[in-house]
Amino acid sequence: MTSPDDKSFSWRQIGPLSELSRKKCRLMYSSDGRDADVCLFYVSGEFFAMDARCAHSGGPLCDGDIEEADVLQVFCPWHDYDFNLRTGKSSTGLQVNT
Ligand code: FES
Repeated sequence: MTSPDDKSFSWRQIGPLSELSRKKCRLMYSSDGRDADVCLFYVSGEFFAMDARCAHSGGPLCDGDIEEADVLQVFCPWHDYDFNLRTGKSSTGLQVNT
């Protein structure tokens, strides 16, 4: 748990839920650069955040297809690797931060 005095992160207001729920993924740009950008997913009433770039070769995960079956996962649009929205793990053995 983080404290309000913790300066290692900052909060960003991203808008009302009614706007966020129009798209399943929103790309959040970071002031720390492209490698720190985050995908914010809104799927089945839950939010998930993960690295915006695929762990394989940097594909744009926000543009991937989302599967809402037993496992919630996004498929990278470049080479179709899967990433679990809850854990960031891929069946390929790769991992993105969540
Ligand atoms: S860059 Fe994402 S699977 Fe290759």
